Amino acid sequence: MARVVSFIIQKGGCGKTTTTANTAAYLARQGFKVLAVDMDPQGNLTQHFGYDTDQLDDTILKLFLNQKRFPEVVLKRSPNLHLLPNTIETAGYELTIYKSLAKEFLLRDILHPIINDYDFILIDCPPNLGIFSLNALVASTEFILVVSPEFFPMRAIKPFYDTYLMVKKKLNHTLQFKGVLMTMCDFRTRHSQEVRKVLEKNFPHKLYKSYIRNNVSLKEASSVGQSIFEYDPQSPGAFDYQNFVEEFIRDYEPVRKKRQYYEGKFQQLSDEERNEILHFARQNLTSYVRNKLDGQATEEVIQQALILERNRILEKLFPYRQHTFSRDSKS
Ligand SMILES: Nc1ncnc2c1ncn2[C@@H]1O[C@H](COP(=O)(O)OP(=O)(O)OP(=O)(O)O)[C@@H](O)[C@H]1O
Ligand SMILES: [Mg+2]
Repeated sequence: MARVVSFIIQKGGCGKTTTTANTAAYLARQGFKVLAVDMDPQGNLTQHFGYDTDQLDDTILKLFLNQKRFPEVVLKRSPNLHLLPNTIETAGYELTIYKSLAKEFLLRDILHPIINDYDFILIDCPPNLGIFSLNALVASTEFILVVSPEFFPMRAIKPFYDTYLMVKKKLNHTLQFKGVLMTMCDFRTRHSQEVRKVLEKNFPHKLYKSYIRNNVSLKEASSVGQSIFEYDPQSPGAFDYQNFVEEFIRDYEPVRKKRQYYEGKFQQLSDEERNEILHFARQNLTSYVRNKLDGQATEEVIQQALILERNRILEKLFPYRQHTFSRDSKS
């Protein structure tokens, strides 16, 4: 069964769509089967994947209205990356939906028949706590709060938290608060540092160590309808999203097994072989990360980047056969 993850906060412009798009793209590149769901009638996620929302007739709205079936609406961006698109037309429907029965379960019912076809279903939520966000939380196994330091975060998180508790109590008992991701950071500013401290204090076990820096390539990538890994894989944005997703999936069983396999292989090598592989891994890193490593950076995300690169090299030497994680290995 897929992990269903909502990226959510009712405040606008925090990086929810950017995070959903790039997380989906990275997971798909790692071999996972991913469905991205655009729950926002602004259609930004749909546009981020390069679709023209003015030209789309079959969207998630047709599924809400029971006029089409899932296979007729889903867009296949690549074999591993599928999208349920949305457009502004859905906004009108929001007003009528309030009268319908079981209105909080519409998305869950749509996803139910296809939930075993994907490893991850990622939902981009609109910037409010209306019926579409509720639908997202009811359909999810977990959610991630996306927080930018543009505002005082606890002011936005408090009302959200009340909604979460209500959903968990009445509509979705198994919903998990997975974590808090800080986006658009610039730690040269005192404000970013202060917001980080507030989040560390309030969410000591939930705040991701990885964070997303301000990076114009992320904006440019979205405006040309590409993920950051297509648009500029060497950018700080690509580095940050890779690190975030790697942290996010660290506790995921197939990923843990693969990492243990490479750790084992690495430890079996001689000192000389190990040094050689680490040398090549360093060469492959961006100059930003190399410089940080040369300065003996202890930051976990930097160390992780080196291990990821090391594993990429090991993968060529010792292919990990079970690493097609998806349904194939379950069937
Ligand atoms: N780390 C970043 N650095 C620079 N620009 C960013 C970053 N993350 C997102 N952006 C840009 O900021 C704007 C808002 O981001 P995004 O659309 O992802 O936020 P959102 O939370 O989905 O907004 P909304 O609430 O309106 O749906 C976009 O133009 C996006 O390209
Ligand atoms: Mg958005």
